[in-house]
Amino acid sequence: MKFTKRKTVLSLSGTRVVVYSDKADLFSDAVSELAKTLKENPKANIGLATGATFQDFYREVALQCRKGKLSLKKSSTFNLDEYVGIKPSDPESYYSYMNNQLYSKTDLKKENAHLPRSDAKNPKAEAQRYENLIKKSGGIDLQYLGIGNNGHIGFNEPGTPFDSKTHVVKLSEATIRQNSIERGYFVGRKMPRYAMTMGIGTILKARKIIVIATGSHKAEAIGRIFKKGKNKEVPASSLKGMKKVTFMLDRQSAQRL
Ligand code: F6R
Repeated sequence: MKFTKRKTVLSLSGTRVVVYSDKADLFSDAVSELAKTLKENPKANIGLATGATFQDFYREVALQCRKGKLSLKKSSTFNLDEYVGIKPSDPESYYSYMNNQLYSKTDLKKENAHLPRSDAKNPKAEAQRYENLIKKSGGIDLQYLGIGNNGHIGFNEPGTPFDSKTHVVKLSEATIRQNSIERGYFVGRKMPRYAMTMGIGTILKARKIIVIATGSHKAEAIGRIFKKGKNKEVPASSLKGMKKVTFMLDRQSAQRL
């Protein structure tokens, strides 16, 4: 498909897909959805992702908070995933990422900011605790997702059942390559081989879901999501055909649609 407009809204396999020519418009719309959710319910539970894609998102959230146009004061956040076996204070932990990008730059209360604990003695029990915490807190109102080069969401690697709950996962070689060599995390040291992630079933329970992908390196994964039906080899294909899901893509990531 050729995209010539600044913003093109499509319905693909019953899924809302918005393609932007300008990344700034994409992130502005993504943050507007957050503002809308918090306006309706300032105490909303927001599901969050980390990674390179989301740096622009958090920059915009921090800017809107600084301008007084957005407040996270009453809301709670639940991150999708975290590595196993490093300290939360490790510069490569997702806790550190969130602290640098969001917690330290907004009025979100630290006690309302949740991630699985990377240094839990029993990661399996920690995953269960996290799943229960999400449930006890009333579930996720608005979930943000990125897409791995292999089509993963959270750290749900190809083959993960669509009804999975928060669990410990052995990271695939593709994900280890993506996060260490391609993104430049864990330079000069071994990247953790295990992580905890909300399951696909946990994610699909969210009341609204926004998926963001940018850059030509995501084009193949995005193409695979919409080429075939839902299948476990492409975890993000589980999101198709749901009214509550919107994919926000730049032209580069949409080039194989
Ligand atoms: C991270 C997460 C992952 C990333 C995905 C894309 O919390 O949930 O699924 O969203 O690996 O990562 P980037 O944005 O670095 O390409």
